[in-house]
Amino acid sequence: MLCNTRDILLRAQSGKYAVAAFNVENMEMAQAVIDAAKEEKADVIVQISTKSLKYAPAGLYAAIVSELSNKADINVALHLDHCTDQELAVKTAECFSSIMIDASKCTLEENIRATKYVLSACRAKNVTVEAELGMVGGKEDDIVCDKTDIYAKVEDCVRFVKETDVDSLAVGIGTMHGVYKGEPKINVERLKEIRAAVNVPLVLHGASGLSSEIVRECISEGISKVNFATELRIAFTQAVKKSLEFNENVIDPKVYLKSGYLAVKELVKEKIELCSMK
Ligand code: G3H
Ligand code: ZN
Repeated sequence: MLCNTRDILLRAQSGKYAVAAFNVENMEMAQAVIDAAKEEKADVIVQISTKSLKYAPAGLYAAIVSELSNKADINVALHLDHCTDQELAVKTAECFSSIMIDASKCTLEENIRATKYVLSACRAKNVTVEAELGMVGGKEDDIVCDKTDIYAKVEDCVRFVKETDVDSLAVGIGTMHGVYKGEPKINVERLKEIRAAVNVPLVLHGASGLSSEIVRECISEGISKVNFATELRIAFTQAVKKSLEFNENVIDPKVYLKSGYLAVKELVKEKIELCSMK
């Protein structure tokens, strides 16, 4: 059965480690993430981007991930990532266990309003909600960050958490979605200030391409959930390409998709170990 993210993130917060969250695009990537987490005996969050809901319906992802989680003796949450549409967020909560309402491009007041609206619908279904303050740079789905002031402000976080009682909060501290161009400038000081000011589990987006040292530093300064997407896509696609190049005559998708599965599984195990802080 799917779990929501409340207990697994609160446990991570008090244990000073992070739950790794992975965006998956298809069944093989979902299998790879859950099989890796099973081997690592770790809680895990499987994420579906909002754009992916145009590729396949939410219920189909939910059926796949629920079936896999039923056969796993670990906690698995299914999370909708970066949803800017309140109605879609509420609708998806019918079959997902966790939802991100991303109104980070709006004013603080609008962000609070949108988050409260989604929260009120999700609470009744025992579905948890993540919101975002500040901005993650780069591009995720069709959300492009065009703000220059991307860092979450401490006073905004305090007000936001007080007024919404949100379950987890993504904070813009200088990370970017996609492939980093140049050295990322992560504002760890701001993270520390936010951590000291609010009690809610904090989320780091845009973790692909960050060094292990930076990820560890962010976790030790208060991050409880770390999101990985781009690195999984790269690993899956490169492995499938290689498999097809190696055997041009292959026509069975099970053969080359298996290579993608294996590459993602290996990567996910590394990221889970990194987030475990052991
Ligand atoms: O929401 C998803 C993430 O923030 C992943 O970012 O593509 O840089 O790993 P990434
Ligand atoms: Zn993100």
